[in-house]
Amino acid sequence: MKILVIGSGGREHALAWKLKQSPRVSEVIVAPGNAGTALEPGVRNAAVAMHDIDGLLHLAKVENVALTVVGPEVPLVAGVVDRFRSEGLRCFGPRKIAAQLEGSKTFAKEFLARHNIPTARYAAFSDLIPALAYVRAQGAPIVVKADGLAAGKGVVVALTLADAEQALHDMLGAHALGAASARVVIEEFLDGEEASYIVLCDGRRALPLATSQDHKRRDDGDFGPNTGGMGAYSPAPVVTPEIDARILREIVEPTLAGMAAEGAPFIGFLYAGLMIDRGGAPRVIEFNVRLGDPETQPILMRLRSDLLDLIDAALDGRLDRISVSWDPRPALGVVLAAQGYPGKVHSGDIVSGHDAAFTPDVKVFHAGTKVENGKILTSGGRVLTVCALGTDLAAAQTHAYAAVRRIRFDGMQYRRDIGYRALGKC
Ligand code: AMP
Ligand code: GLY
Repeated sequence: MKILVIGSGGREHALAWKLKQSPRVSEVIVAPGNAGTALEPGVRNAAVAMHDIDGLLHLAKVENVALTVVGPEVPLVAGVVDRFRSEGLRCFGPRKIAAQLEGSKTFAKEFLARHNIPTARYAAFSDLIPALAYVRAQGAPIVVKADGLAAGKGVVVALTLADAEQALHDMLGAHALGAASARVVIEEFLDGEEASYIVLCDGRRALPLATSQDHKRRDDGDFGPNTGGMGAYSPAPVVTPEIDARILREIVEPTLAGMAAEGAPFIGFLYAGLMIDRGGAPRVIEFNVRLGDPETQPILMRLRSDLLDLIDAALDGRLDRISVSWDPRPALGVVLAAQGYPGKVHSGDIVSGHDAAFTPDVKVFHAGTKVENGKILTSGGRVLTVCALGTDLAAAQTHAYAAVRRIRFDGMQYRRDIGYRALGKC
């Protein structure tokens, strides 16, 4: 069968690569894809943008696609799954009503409160003056978030009151993020260690994926601006078996039960961004209604089961009858970003060394790349995610960085310390 993957990042390259390994898949089409998906055997790109839902529907029909898998949040929040289903097409991801868990921070916070699911205390504001009064009353550190989708740029962790006030002036006063920041959520600052927890859901049940952790800050030591993620590894030792059980019991199960009870059963990948405090108590920082990028890349390196079987089981409401098998070896991925990322970046630089003769335990996933006249050029902020498996996390890190050193493009920047928090624990 043919499968369509919507999106163009490293996550989508990894999804296409893994889905193509299913014996039931003849071809994976990626819309719009990148140079990595263009070159992957059995995978090809179709030039349809991820927000062009009519174009995607047309593509799925003319190509006789049996299943569409949606990578990014933007088409999910726009209702791509509802449109596909209404035309009788099989499409994996949450419907628009359930995608609000990511599409609106206010919706997510109110949902969490209604169901007594642990999260930071908060208040929501559309007007600058009461918002300023609230942060002054609460004091710093405090967190200011744009309500809508802002591609990772909508969160300011303000260590001082002046920073919090500046963020409010930018978002509510100067409308720096447009409609996404017409409303803001102001949250209590949570202390602890972050963890990403991703589950596959069939509307009622959750099948946890291998644990993972990303590094959101641009610079070594977790300094510098927030990004979409500069690297990731799996498993994440912060999620001990005991914490894992607490996350399922205190966060995931009540979330799925609450969504089902509200008529918005969650089918798809649900990603809970969590803060784990010193006592091991998990609290929700945010929900994403899709796989994480770059977490997906090391997670899928470790997945031994057929991903198509898992997705089919979730779509058909029978996750209780499926099991999943993981490579016990850890995997680690390093993002190679263009100069200027996460701000404005230069495009069109030639990438070399990405196709060196790496060992089978190394995989280079593409994100911001394109093919032009037979050359691979940069075309975005995060260019590649270089992943490796290893007998332990230190070995995975060594292999990944050895592969990184063979790759070049002008302005290439990357963190040298991906995995350091987990290595400190091993
Ligand atoms: P988000 O986009 O909501 O995941 O936020 C981006 C990053 O900001 C998170 O990964 C955390 O590092 C940080 N963050 C968000 N909310 C809080 C909070 N309430 N307390 C502390 N850090 C936070
Ligand atoms: N790596 C974080 C995210 O995908 O949102």
